[in-house]
Amino acid sequence: MTDQSRIDTSVAHPARRYDYLLGGKDNFEADRQSAHEIEKRHPTARLSAMENRAFMHRAVRYMAGQGIRQFLDIGTGIPTSPNTHEIAQGADPSARVVYVDNDPLVLVHARALLTGTPAGRTTYIEADLRDPRQILADQEVKNTLDLHEPVGLLLISVLHFIRDDDDPARILNTLLDAIPAGSVVVASQATPEHMPAEQIAALRKVMERQWRDRTGAEFRALFDRPDVELVEPGVQSVARWWADEASQPRPSIESVAANGLVARIVR
Ligand SMILES: C[S@@+](CC[C@H](N)C(=O)[O-])C[C@H]1O[C@@H](n2cnc3c(N)ncnc32)[C@H](O)[C@@H]1O
Repeated sequence: MTDQSRIDTSVAHPARRYDYLLGGKDNFEADRQSAHEIEKRHPTARLSAMENRAFMHRAVRYMAGQGIRQFLDIGTGIPTSPNTHEIAQGADPSARVVYVDNDPLVLVHARALLTGTPAGRTTYIEADLRDPRQILADQEVKNTLDLHEPVGLLLISVLHFIRDDDDPARILNTLLDAIPAGSVVVASQATPEHMPAEQIAALRKVMERQWRDRTGAEFRALFDRPDVELVEPGVQSVARWWADEASQPRPSIESVAANGLVARIVR
């Protein structure tokens, strides 16, 4: 099967819908309709997507500042510049990045992800976060990342596509067990906390079966391990992380409705 023939344009896909919300062109009618349905229930959905993306940019700069030189970015999305490798290799051209996504459309656009510096290495694999062992066993991952050295693990706006019956704790434990002390994990997750009950109920109705928003406490609980040390102030709105470096004025946490978490692996 070709990459193109595996792409079903009649059903909305998170990567393409997110691309549309970010102002991209790699989306189809079903994705746009789905985005409009979401916007009817969450009118600041575009702002939320952009704030999430900006959080990711600041997070990669932070990780690079902490000396991280290799990154595993799971739930990459359709390429939107700047991507993780552009920021990481901007800080150090020898930085290495592996992107992972389970949407075949991302693979079609992977060339745009693979334009890294000659000194560094940038690669892409199609794989599912729900099968973390497959990600870790992948030859590209092995060739690109040295799992004895600190890794920057990015799980940006992807954990809300992992339902409880996918056992997110198992997924995270597998990934966190595989990376050494000194690694930094950055994650973001949609939260229902700032929405009235009717709004969140209406929003859940139009999301995929896979959708699982989580409160800050539920999000925090996924990382509840003795070797995970949260960077202060712990779970907080993505809009508030490194707010001084962000565009001003900062939007309200209600309008963004997504939490971010930054953690160090300490052993
Ligand atoms: C909202 S986008 C976020 C993209 C990017 N991380 C960012 O924040 O800009 C979510 C991405 O996660 C991907 N995704 C969803 N479930 C996944 C899974 N089980 N395994 C791998 N990728 C997944 C989607 O295909 C989509 O590209």
